[in-house]
Amino acid sequence: MKPTILTVSGSAFEQWLEPVAALRIQVFREFPYLYDGSLDYEKHYLQRYIDSPNSTLVLALDGDKVVGASTALPMRDADDAFQLPFRRHGFAIDDIYYFGESVLQSPYRGSGIGHRFFDAREQAAREQGCSITTFCAVQRPSNHPARPQDYVPHHAFWDKRGYTPRPDLTCDYHWRDIGDSEETLKPMLFWIKTC
Ligand SMILES: CC(C)(COP(=O)(O)OP(=O)(O)OC[C@H]1O[C@@H](n2cnc3c(N)ncnc32)[C@H](O)[C@@H]1OP(=O)(O)O)[C@@H](O)C(=O)NCCC(=O)NCCS
Repeated sequence: MKPTILTVSGSAFEQWLEPVAALRIQVFREFPYLYDGSLDYEKHYLQRYIDSPNSTLVLALDGDKVVGASTALPMRDADDAFQLPFRRHGFAIDDIYYFGESVLQSPYRGSGIGHRFFDAREQAAREQGCSITTFCAVQRPSNHPARPQDYVPHHAFWDKRGYTPRPDLTCDYHWRDIGDSEETLKPMLFWIKTC
């Protein structure tokens, strides 16, 4: 069955926190994220979206089950780690809408939901008067031992959506990898689009 799409904003995120957290923990175990998630980390991470009145949460629902989710918020409400590279380069932070993540359970992939997630978040950016949309992607070595042989990066998809990788805009972000006992910093590279 094709999921239905529901978009909510700000504090309305709160009622979806637990299923979105569970989905992130499930999907981000995959390469290249390798995230060993916990509900504590999720609650802290997702709180920013609840607290930001202009955040966007796009849900893919199969009946009442959350099978996909995608997030965004004004860059001024995002973690400092994501703001810093843009501030250093002299961007006007209020022009930027930051995309957090897109996660979709694998049986539902390949039928256009990923495009719907981008469409909804870009529309929200326009409604907020933001002329730049951006997200960052984790950088893993191409010979990483956990990389599946048939792994296909999303670069072609992001390029088709009009995003450009910016090696001059990078940051480090923390989470615990599967098999590790502590969180470590990962190098992240931003992709941006100007409308
Ligand atoms: C990213 C994600 C949400 C995309 O969802 P999706 O519904 O499969 O995406 P779509 O069906 O809209 O396809 C988007 C593009 O992905 C590519 N794609 C889709 N299915 C693919 C497959 N099986 N193999 C390779 N590429 C594929 C295509 O380029 C497609 O664009 P096109 O058909 O217009 O050329 C989903 O793959 C996912 O959850 N992945 C794991 C988490 C992740 O990597 N998130 C992104 C960073 S946060």
